[in-house]
Amino acid sequence: MFQIYLKIDYVVYNSVMEFANRIDNSGVRTAVQSDAREITQLLRRVPYSHVHVDWQLPVDWLGSPGFVALPEPGYSTAQRRSVASRLLPPRERLQGCLAATADPPPAAWVRVASVAAAADPQAALAAMLMPVVDYLRKTAVTQLGWLAIRDWPNDWLPGLGFYRANEIETYVKEDKQLPEETLAETAVPGLRIRPVQFADLAALEQIEAAAFEPLWRYSADSLNQARGQSLCFDVAELNGVIIGFQLSSWAGQGAHLARITVHPDYHGHGIGSALLAHALKTYWEHGLRRVSLNTQVDNIASQYLYRKFGFDASGQRFPVWAMDL
Ligand SMILES: CC(C)(COP(=O)(O)OP(=O)(O)OC[C@H]1O[C@@H](n2cnc3c(N)ncnc32)[C@H](O)[C@@H]1OP(=O)(O)O)[C@@H](O)C(=O)NCCC(=O)NCCS
Repeated sequence: MFQIYLKIDYVVYNSVMEFANRIDNSGVRTAVQSDAREITQLLRRVPYSHVHVDWQLPVDWLGSPGFVALPEPGYSTAQRRSVASRLLPPRERLQGCLAATADPPPAAWVRVASVAAAADPQAALAAMLMPVVDYLRKTAVTQLGWLAIRDWPNDWLPGLGFYRANEIETYVKEDKQLPEETLAETAVPGLRIRPVQFADLAALEQIEAAAFEPLWRYSADSLNQARGQSLCFDVAELNGVIIGFQLSSWAGQGAHLARITVHPDYHGHGIGSALLAHALKTYWEHGLRRVSLNTQVDNIASQYLYRKFGFDASGQRFPVWAMDL
């Protein structure tokens, strides 16, 4: 087991090093608050941008060692120390940035990545990835994921030590039908569905840990962020014990089921169906007809649930890349 770990470690390190050596990476530094404007503009202006933030903003992670910036070449230390730049805050032009956060450990996602076309993009990514990976290892992160929402990373990630771990697919429902057995509120005896409260979040984090592999888990913190932005967020209590939840957000003219999780000890008893039926009724009360959701292509149980409720696979898929640290 130990040897296997060392081998993966060595392969990842070498492939990243090989690309990083192609550019002068000495300037890679932690991204700080004063980079906020430049990073926001970089994410808009360059063709190679990746933003996977769930409930936060890219700039929310500024100052973390997991968020790095790559200044444009030619911006010398002397310039940085010049009198002018001490009087006016320097506006350093960046050619790239990359942020990865573990929320919760032991897995982290690449949340933000951006690199200018003028740079050697793969080398710039490698140069930024190295310090981030070093930092994540120190925080006991063992897996780094990259959800390829756009196509451009797919060509470069294998060369940087990522392997294709999964795919997620979007499912859509536009009708207003419910399965017959979910129509009665008392379909599951002892079950109560109610809006989430702050005090519930620790229990939801534990359900996430029991139900999902590390890469897919939500922490209590991110669920709390989601709470403030949700369309509806309900917990399922069976005889007073929280055993599942659903979290939904607004999506244009429709709703998006962002998460539905039932503790594995209670799967197959109609809890997921009751939560989903409850969520759909809430969307319809808001006049929202189109519902979307994403699920992993190997998550067969969830696909049965969604198909039972009349969701169809849209064919829109996003590769999930991972690197074992
Ligand atoms: C998906 C999930 C929410 C379903 O919750 P559940 O309480 O087990 O769902 P239900 O008991 O209401 O079952 C609904 C349907 O799903 C299907 N189903 C549930 N578990 C299944 C399994 N292990 N294999 C195949 N089908 C399954 C059945 O068709 C069932 O309908 P039926 O009883 O009429 O045949 C639950 O499996 C879960 O929490 N999984 C882990 C988290 C997750 O993957 N969430 C969704 C992705 S974000």
